[in-house]
Amino acid sequence: MTIECTPLGNRIGAVVRGVSLKDVPDGETLDTLETLLEEWGALVFPDQEITPAEQVAFSRPFGPLEETARIDARLEGQPEIFVVGNTGKRIVSFAPADGSDDLEWHADHMHLKVPARASMLYCKETPSVGGETVFACMYSAYDALSPEEQAQAESLTALHSVSGLQKYLKTKGEKGAAEGEYASPQQLTVRWPLVRTHPLTGRKALYVGSKVTIGIEGWDEDRARAYLDDLLARATVPEFRYSHPWKPGDAVLWDNRRVLHAGTPFDGSLYRREMHRTTIREDQPIL
Ligand code: OGA
Ligand code: MN
Repeated sequence: MTIECTPLGNRIGAVVRGVSLKDVPDGETLDTLETLLEEWGALVFPDQEITPAEQVAFSRPFGPLEETARIDARLEGQPEIFVVGNTGKRIVSFAPADGSDDLEWHADHMHLKVPARASMLYCKETPSVGGETVFACMYSAYDALSPEEQAQAESLTALHSVSGLQKYLKTKGEKGAAEGEYASPQQLTVRWPLVRTHPLTGRKALYVGSKVTIGIEGWDEDRARAYLDDLLARATVPEFRYSHPWKPGDAVLWDNRRVLHAGTPFDGSLYRREMHRTTIREDQPIL
């Protein structure tokens, strides 16, 4: 079957047909998908009927997989599957619980020593209203800065910590996971360049989250917050976004090196949402 790729009409996002996620990708398929991922940042594979084991087997050739850090969000017998949604032992959400549009933009694992290079979410169940995932292109965000702003951003180091996310969850009335509920310690602060160069394309991308990014090295908190909030708002304007309206059977693979993402709210008292994530570890230095 030939692989067909249809762009979704924005800076990022394309639908890929002609690939069954039931099959481990061969060398040629893997090369094609890597090229498409580089080009489009987020690839949508519709109408897939796969088991958790098949998702893991499909994801593995892209690179080493992480085991889910939050013990209670692991799928039984499948430690590489992170269950996101409200059907598991614990609600796992990356969306504002108060229904606001104050989104929690992030790249996966940017608060860890080894971030995620790419991630795949597979939709088992989704609300009929809300619960979309929004992606934003950080090449576009960088390119849209003035040369002076680009030079300033390139000189800065951002600080990231899960504590930023937990603080946010608390203000939104949700309980974050306690430290003991993780398989490895999470409470560290990591430093990454605010502008990173994609190791495959050589293009520059902003690497910044809205809550998980807690500061700028050498700056006081207020100055850093104001700078980061302004940067994020400009980085995630609608022209740079693709918002995915999920259907059961959709899988989306995205490149955390140049795409941010965030969940959007839904009414958990009315709807079930179950998503399975596989997480591919970064294998290059972040420069
Ligand atoms: C994730 C994530 C967003 C969503 O699983 O990494 O950010 O819409 N999910 O569930
Ligand atoms: Mn995420």
